[in-house]
Amino acid sequence: MEFTLSEEQLMIQQAAKDFAQNELLPGVIERDDSQKFPKELIQKMGELGFMGMMVDEKYGGSGLGTLSYVLAMEELSKVDASASVIVSVNNSLVCWGLETFGTEAQKEKYLTRLSTGEIIGAFCLSEPEAGSDATSQKTTAIDKGDHYVVNGTKNWITNGSSAEVYLVIAQTDVEKGHRGINALIVEKGMEGFEIGPKENKLGIRGSDTHSLLFTDVKVPKENRIGEDGFGFKFAMKTLAGGRIGIAAQALGIAAGAYELSKKYSKERKAFGTEIANHQAIAFKLADMHTKIQAARHLVYQAACDKDSGEDYTLSGAMAKLYASEVAMETAVEAVQIHGGNGFVKDYHVERLMRDAKITQIYEGTSEIQKIVISRSILKD
Ligand code: CAA
Repeated sequence: MEFTLSEEQLMIQQAAKDFAQNELLPGVIERDDSQKFPKELIQKMGELGFMGMMVDEKYGGSGLGTLSYVLAMEELSKVDASASVIVSVNNSLVCWGLETFGTEAQKEKYLTRLSTGEIIGAFCLSEPEAGSDATSQKTTAIDKGDHYVVNGTKNWITNGSSAEVYLVIAQTDVEKGHRGINALIVEKGMEGFEIGPKENKLGIRGSDTHSLLFTDVKVPKENRIGEDGFGFKFAMKTLAGGRIGIAAQALGIAAGAYELSKKYSKERKAFGTEIANHQAIAFKLADMHTKIQAARHLVYQAACDKDSGEDYTLSGAMAKLYASEVAMETAVEAVQIHGGNGFVKDYHVERLMRDAKITQIYEGTSEIQKIVISRSILKD
């Protein structure tokens, strides 16, 4: 199958590439070291339309399709996966979730500011004891008539301290199991809502990841997304699309590691010739290129399924499973090709290797993707 990109899609790809090279690359090592991501860079990404790519223009978004979004995600991720996870969570989980299932009032209040990058959002599902097993929510949202009272802890939350808007999944009625779960919009500053400690991570260190603590937080009923009990389905439907964004991130990490390796192996000499002339290196590049192309097809296919209204749960899970494995393998090989230089920060591939690992874990581990894929292919 051939994917032909339109003029507009090629322009978006080029804009993301230029932004990554000119604005993200210069400070990427420092952000990884300091574990900080400047607000100004998020605002610049907002100005370029990267923070609400799929949101309707009437809510300040770019009004583009998922294919354009994955093209941008790939280019940003080649250079800085910390930037791209901020973009991915804001676009796929927060903006898409609100635009698709939120009320008009919720969209007016939150979506425009989120899609322009004025503020960013966070998606709060994981808990100390509910990661892969997402129905085991211990955070409660007790119904008190016109509001909910939220208590509990969320873990590993991307944009944990930098977000202003948090989509929080919590259990209202334990007896109803996953059908008693709600999704609520919690704002930074609500009484009883505290940002917990920052995680000191292996990769994507520029993005902030925190635990969040909720103690008797009063959340008005109008902040519930969807009908009573829709929260778990909201999370699953939103994550199904989120996985396409993370698959594109993984693809970008792999492609970034490959491009650096190809360039390096045509410059670096050993045994009297450029190392690309040694079959040991050339074959590694051949494997990388082949797997990246295969991953790219899966990612584009999932994006096209979403854009054409097809079910994308299966194709998104396959894209994430495969692209994240290719990211990890490719980044490890990139370090090997760079030898001693690969082990130091200046050559970027050690960071890409550290960043690749999370793509096999967040938005559903590789093992969870295999559950989703196997259930889908076995159901008929
Ligand atoms: N769309 C709509 N509904 C769905 C769905 C989907 N894709 N997947 C499941 N559901 C529904 C099911 O139909 C079922 O509803 P009914 O009983 O009414 O039919 C309900 O959800 C429960 O589904 P299961 O019985 O399949 O539940 P399960 O306990 O077997 O778990 C799972 C399913 C797929 C393993 C799920 O728990 C899961 O996806 N786990 C991984 C969680 C995850 O991805 N976490 C990532 C955190 S967010 C993150 O990482 C963001 C970040 O920071 C970058």
